[in-house]
Amino acid sequence: MSDTTPAAQAPVPPPSCIMVIFGGCGDLTRRKLLPALYNLASQGLLDGGFTVLGVDRIDLDDIAYRARLDDSVPGFVGEGIEAQVWGDLLSRIHYQQGDFLDPAAYTRLAARLAGLDQARATGGRHLFYLATPPRFFGEIAQQLGRAGLAQEAEGGWRRIVVEKPFGNDLASARALNQRLHESFDEDQVFRIDHYLGKETVQNIFAYRFTNSTVEPIWNRRYVDHVEITVSESLGVENRAGYYEQAGALRDMVPNHLLSLLSVVAMEPANGLEANAVRDEQTKVLRAIQPLLPEQVLTDTVRGQYGLGVMPDGSRVPGYREEPGVAPDSNTETFVAMKLMIDSWRWAGVPFYLRTGKRMPGRYTEVVVEFKHAPNMLFRDSRVRRYNVPPNMLVLRIQPNEGIGMCFNAKVPGPTQELRPVEMNFSYADYFGTAPSTGYETLIYDCMIGDGMLFKRADTIEAGWELVEPVLDVWGALPPRDFPDYAAGTWGPPESDALLARDGRRWKPCDVCQRHGD
Ligand SMILES: NC(=O)c1ccc[n+]([C@@H]2O[C@H](COP(=O)([O-])OP(=O)(O)OC[C@H]3O[C@@H](n4cnc5c(N)ncnc54)[C@H](OP(=O)(O)O)[C@@H]3O)[C@@H](O)[C@H]2O)c1
Repeated sequence: MSDTTPAAQAPVPPPSCIMVIFGGCGDLTRRKLLPALYNLASQGLLDGGFTVLGVDRIDLDDIAYRARLDDSVPGFVGEGIEAQVWGDLLSRIHYQQGDFLDPAAYTRLAARLAGLDQARATGGRHLFYLATPPRFFGEIAQQLGRAGLAQEAEGGWRRIVVEKPFGNDLASARALNQRLHESFDEDQVFRIDHYLGKETVQNIFAYRFTNSTVEPIWNRRYVDHVEITVSESLGVENRAGYYEQAGALRDMVPNHLLSLLSVVAMEPANGLEANAVRDEQTKVLRAIQPLLPEQVLTDTVRGQYGLGVMPDGSRVPGYREEPGVAPDSNTETFVAMKLMIDSWRWAGVPFYLRTGKRMPGRYTEVVVEFKHAPNMLFRDSRVRRYNVPPNMLVLRIQPNEGIGMCFNAKVPGPTQELRPVEMNFSYADYFGTAPSTGYETLIYDCMIGDGMLFKRADTIEAGWELVEPVLDVWGALPPRDFPDYAAGTWGPPESDALLARDGRRWKPCDVCQRHGD
């Protein structure tokens, strides 16, 4: 079934470069970055000169660092790891001990990079990946600037990749942008939101903007509302230290949920040039009606899970019983909100967003519900207008990656009866599955200098501007009823009430697939 368009070109390895990973002994490096590099290597997408330099505080030499990675990374690559590909990648990995706060570490780093540039013919092309706790982002950027490492020399380039979270409110995000810009120009900065690296999110662009049947109905005339769900079945795991400070709102909304919203709601860009796309994404975020304090009370919902039973029958503790969480914690583990976009395309169409931990399943999906058809034809039959479910388009980001369209069909037989059925496109069926951490495309794009899938400074700030009033009101009015939903459920009752007030209800995740059951 699979085919590619004649225009499709096989990707080629970008020119060699040195990827400097600050936090080279950290969790992200072993779980995501190195497995992603392995996957790129196994697809032939790393140039022979490509080199990694891990930087961390532990005292190791190259050999000991490689042994350490060899112990942990293959487990995250998974079965089928090819020893030759992994061995070859390992041989190109080096290590530099240094404290991120120590200026001398950057002087040593500069000397090491100059040596590696010569030995590996990497031409001054350096990708600085900040896989570090967020408190170091500004500091490392500044130190790189002071050491002259942000300066692009002829033929070379210097780029910096900044992980999430990008700030914890508007003021801190602005301050971090300012600090980055002291050393790096905006086009040297790559702010990661790994959701945008997911094939299925990128496919929303393709689906919306290359299919002539989609765009004409993608507006307020045909769309009733949009639901965006990012649910996790896991609890806080071992991240309580971070999560207690962040909560679900900061952790998920300004980045992942608003990224999804912007891809679904943006206007077509003039092309795939990074700034053309990011202009449109920022524009749509800026068109969202800011929530007034009284609207925060009516149009947002927060919740925290208590002990409960998951769908597999396991009993799990409540958030306040998790290790590292305060027994009286008021941190929210669930958020739902209703946003309205003031644009010609979306006026009057609510976008409902929800995200939470310890939900019954791990789903990321967008449901676009269309308006009811008039159904006059059926008015005298058993089928009445509101008995007929509206059409729905479901963009499944995970799991069962694909797109489903739910529509109505006549049940065979002499009576007029309709049933919702589905048309379903599954990625796995058409394209098979390739091992992916979600970071492959993003790292590749950094190496070729394509910032389309990365957040620009103004996009990040537009997201925080939206979230800020919610943080203010929630901060001023601590919740009184936490925990307010049982683990293994879809959040507090107020989440259902948010839609019920508008005569709507959340669709069960994987709704198209369920119709087929
Ligand atoms: N882990 C994930 O799966 C994941 C997923 C998405 C995003 N992220 C983001 O990615 C970033 C990195 O996460 P992570 O979990 O990998 O962080 P991490 O393991 O806590 O830290 C990364 C490394 O930095 C080292 N380090 C800390 N302070 C240092 C200093 N002053 N000088 C030199 N090295 C120092 C740590 O050493 P110690 O262990 O000795 O402190 C650790 O080896 C974070 O911004 C996180 O939000 C992570």
